[in-house]
Amino acid sequence: MRATPRHCFAPHEYAAQAYADKPLPIGHGQTISQPFIVAVMTERLGLAPHHRVLEIGAGSGYQAAILAQLSAHVTTLEIVPELAARAAATLHSLGYHNVEVHHADGYLGWPPGAPYDRILLTAAPAAIPQALVEQLCPNGRLVAPVGGSLKNQKLLVLDKDSAGHTSTRRILPVRFVPMVRGG
Ligand SMILES: C[S@@+](CC[C@H](N)C(=O)[O-])C[C@H]1O[C@@H](n2cnc3c(N)ncnc32)[C@H](O)[C@@H]1O
Repeated sequence: MRATPRHCFAPHEYAAQAYADKPLPIGHGQTISQPFIVAVMTERLGLAPHHRVLEIGAGSGYQAAILAQLSAHVTTLEIVPELAARAAATLHSLGYHNVEVHHADGYLGWPPGAPYDRILLTAAPAAIPQALVEQLCPNGRLVAPVGGSLKNQKLLVLDKDSAGHTSTRRILPVRFVPMVRGG
């Protein structure tokens, strides 16, 4: 995270606060997540250098930049087209060439790149979308904030074993923007 210039992902007017441990607005009612929670989720993913990763909720591209430094390839999906375009431009300008950004609805995942060794959600659905579980490799892991209301969200870790069976653990209470449905 020290190697990642967070000020380049934050809007100009918030650049001075970019290294404070707090979320920052990125427009369109969305935020760049608090560094502490980015660290917790990244750590929980247990990334290896050969992993292929899917992120739902590109936002500013900051979390994708962290993932890109710890894995082989990152596909990140963003439902707000302007944010997707900005994240792609920022990541490209900083030289993160193993990340692809798509304007797409994360509820459907990204089948052309599946299966993924790791999947990370940075917006909260009411329940883990089945399409994402299907796009996870055997021995894969998905980390997601889950909960229908802001007050009732938990960070979940879902593991898929070599036979395809899944098990889920709750890690800690969190507060993420809701994952919205595509049109
Ligand atoms: C907390 S922000 C993500 C922060 C981001 N990971 C970063 O590092 O800046 C959540 C993002 O999820 C996006 N989002 C919400 N619902 C989505 C969906 N169904 N598919 C894809 N992106 C979605 C929002 O537009 C928002 O940009």
